[in-house]
Amino acid sequence: MNQRLLDKYNVPVPRYTSYPPANFFSDTIGNDDYINAIDKSNSLSPSHISIYIHIPFCRHLCYYCGCNSFAMRSEDKISAYIEAVKKEITMVISRLDSSRKISQIHYGGGSPTSIPVKYIRELNEFLLFRFETIENPEIAIECHPGYLSINDWQELSHSGFTRFSLGIQDFDEKVLKSVNRRPSLIGVDEIVSLLRDAGAGVNMDFIYGLPHQTPDSFAETISKGVNMSPDRVVTFSYAHVPWVNKLMLQLEKEGLPDNMKKAAIFESAKNILSDNGYKTIGIDHFVKENDELYVALQERILHRNFQGYCTRRTTGQVYAFGVTAISQLTGAYVQNTKDIDKYINDINSGTLSVAKGYILNSDEQITGEVIAALMCNGKADWNYLSSILNIGTEEIKAALNYDINKLNEFVNDGLINLDENKIEVLPQAAGFVRNVAASLDKLLINSDKSFSKPV
Ligand SMILES: C[S@@+](CC[C@H](N)C(=O)[O-])C[C@H]1O[C@@H](n2cnc3c(N)ncnc32)[C@H](O)[C@@H]1O
Ligand code: SF4
Repeated sequence: MNQRLLDKYNVPVPRYTSYPPANFFSDTIGNDDYINAIDKSNSLSPSHISIYIHIPFCRHLCYYCGCNSFAMRSEDKISAYIEAVKKEITMVISRLDSSRKISQIHYGGGSPTSIPVKYIRELNEFLLFRFETIENPEIAIECHPGYLSINDWQELSHSGFTRFSLGIQDFDEKVLKSVNRRPSLIGVDEIVSLLRDAGAGVNMDFIYGLPHQTPDSFAETISKGVNMSPDRVVTFSYAHVPWVNKLMLQLEKEGLPDNMKKAAIFESAKNILSDNGYKTIGIDHFVKENDELYVALQERILHRNFQGYCTRRTTGQVYAFGVTAISQLTGAYVQNTKDIDKYINDINSGTLSVAKGYILNSDEQITGEVIAALMCNGKADWNYLSSILNIGTEEIKAALNYDINKLNEFVNDGLINLDENKIEVLPQAAGFVRNVAASLDKLLINSDKSFSKPV
């Protein structure tokens, strides 16, 4: 993409990991709304139960972090937190139809692996004792390898997980040092073979757009990762939002790459991944050709929730536990408080701890499906959407900000193919799918919300 188009389209737009984006949530939504939404969710589809558990603690805070993370607390506080999570789970699952099955469990953070592994194993056992699972459920955990010994990895590998995401970020120690992050304690190749031997899938997370990264240095990092043959690779575009996390200002002092350089860094990673047979999912996920996510993409039925990409097989309504955790039910999003002490007190006094949320009206549910289709599959196929939403094409378009002049501008700028049956984002414009999605979003008209830029 040339500089003119890069300048035109590299403007703040939502990341659309959910619709509506989380900054539209309102604090008028509370515990009673959540209880209503849980009760209703039993009769809505998808019927599978997807569980998210948020472990907010981190040993050290990385300067680039955009996640809901907090500096480590005492062992007593951690154990009080886990007990509260168990109580919250009990309160919520007692309202769920017991014939429903778990399709996903995901531990995110923060760093779930910053706390003793025994706590995580207990939570897994607690959940799996209460519900049946579908065949081959996804039970996944995000791991920061900076603090895990070989014994920790061995224990983790016997704790019921089917997938591990290794937070590599960059292999270059100069980059890691500048963002206050420790490299892996033991060789990553050793970790990968241990997890493989235990029969688990291995993902690697990288992030680009950090100080000291160059196309060459990042290419070296990605090559090193690819040589270990992870099943899935994610290259996150660093989202610089210092109004959310002031630590990010440190990175401005170190010097952040400009747009052109950042795009070149991503391009270098993408080329290596493609040369090694990885297929692109969405913008920044890369998987092997036989991965079920790629198979779903080819069938244009890939999905996404707050836990990441999923298929129809594993898609469930998401019931989320712990501070800041976001439940994603059909028709309602609900987010818990971010205050760890308040969360523990609320739960111990027998109430839930909802801070905010969003109840989706029918137009928003339709827009959410269209935007998810664009973000996941690069295509809004009106006939397909019409069949899954059970309404006519014109009704779908009426729910959107469907502006033919704007869409034609995308066509002229080489971003999309457009005809009466579909909007299709062109492969060379995949990095700007967010802009196409944003153009259809009624909620952005006159919105004063802040977002990050696509590149
Ligand atoms: C909860 S974090 C990862 C888990 C673990 N704490 C770790 O750091 O390895 C999930 C992923 O979000 C990505 N991430 C964190 N901050 C980001 C930001 N500001 N912009 C883009 N990606 C970010 C990182 O690449 C990270 O692997
Ligand atoms: S990137 Fe991971 S380890 Fe670093 S502060 Fe964020 S959540 Fe914690």
